[in-house]
Amino acid sequence: METVLSGIRSTGHLHLGNYYGALRNFVKLQDEYKCFFFIADLHSLTTHPHPDDFHSSVKIILSEYLAAGLDPEKSALFVQSDIPEICELYVLLNMLAYKGELERTTSFKDKVRKQADNVNAGLLTYPVLMASDILIHRATKVPVGKDQEQHLEIARVLARRFNNLYGTEVFPEPHALSFGKDLIKVPGLDGSGKMGKSEGNGIYLNDDQQTITKKVMKAVTDAGPTKPNSEMPDSVKNLFTLLSIVSEPSTVEYFREKYNDCSIRYGDLKKQLAADICKQTLPIKERIDAIYNDDEYLRKAVRRGTEQARESAAATLALAKKAVGFKVF
Ligand code: ADP
Ligand code: TRP
Repeated sequence: METVLSGIRSTGHLHLGNYYGALRNFVKLQDEYKCFFFIADLHSLTTHPHPDDFHSSVKIILSEYLAAGLDPEKSALFVQSDIPEICELYVLLNMLAYKGELERTTSFKDKVRKQADNVNAGLLTYPVLMASDILIHRATKVPVGKDQEQHLEIARVLARRFNNLYGTEVFPEPHALSFGKDLIKVPGLDGSGKMGKSEGNGIYLNDDQQTITKKVMKAVTDAGPTKPNSEMPDSVKNLFTLLSIVSEPSTVEYFREKYNDCSIRYGDLKKQLAADICKQTLPIKERIDAIYNDDEYLRKAVRRGTEQARESAAATLALAKKAVGFKVF
């Protein structure tokens, strides 16, 4: 059976982009595949989180994973730093990753622009650590949002390079797993591109009804269409994209018609959007709050997953080290 694997960095709460781009798909996959889902706490170190916040960030994501429906009986749930084999493979793969190709990664260039005073080596080799996460379990299917496609390409390149250099077949090539037609991109509410933690434009799984409504009502729009069937500005397109993600198709159609005949009132659309987001996320929020305070349940939830992940990681690492030529005295 093919192995599915994915992770999300432990920085803050999960937003709708993380949920619809990644987490919701994890939940769907766990009935069909052998699944590994983890919390990428090592990846979050690139921005030097305060030690007082480090563990609670992991706990938040774990609670949100479970509240959204990940089942520790079906999937192996674990925390990245509990699997030291990942770091060992990271060292091996770093020898095969070239500075130029890492510098050309869109996410790296983006971070260089956004955090120019903290362009550390961990940021540059972020995709190598991610490749190690995936290849250590020889996973072939990786459910992620569209922004991670390039990282998966690097994981494939490293897998091929390792196999070719050492004349082995240890690593299969991993591919992004998409649902339906394309990888999904959830837009932000500020009229710009994607919803993201660092963009500060997110609706979070633990937001309450009032917060969600306030954020949606403040979303950027234009003055409204003046000619029938006119092209939508990006800000309005984004609202329709969000609507198509959380609402019934008939609701989207209703507002599209209103837009096309210029009778749309953005206030009505936003109210509907806020209500439909709440319908999806408030039940999850309720579960997050309960799970976050249940340390015993959290401990149990990762116990079996960590064991499974360590076993699988140790087996792959042994093969990789053998291929490189390591031998114990
Ligand atoms: P962020 O961009 O908020 O920092 P991460 O980079 O930690 O989030 O992403 C975690 C997962 O969520 C990845 O699989 C990523 O592809 C997905 N994801 C994040 N933002 C979006 C978005 N706006 N639309 C779709 N998927 C997203
Ligand atoms: N880089 C991913 C993100 O920012 C998180 C991640 C780390 C990941 N390692 C992974 C995703 C391995 C899939 C597989 O969202």
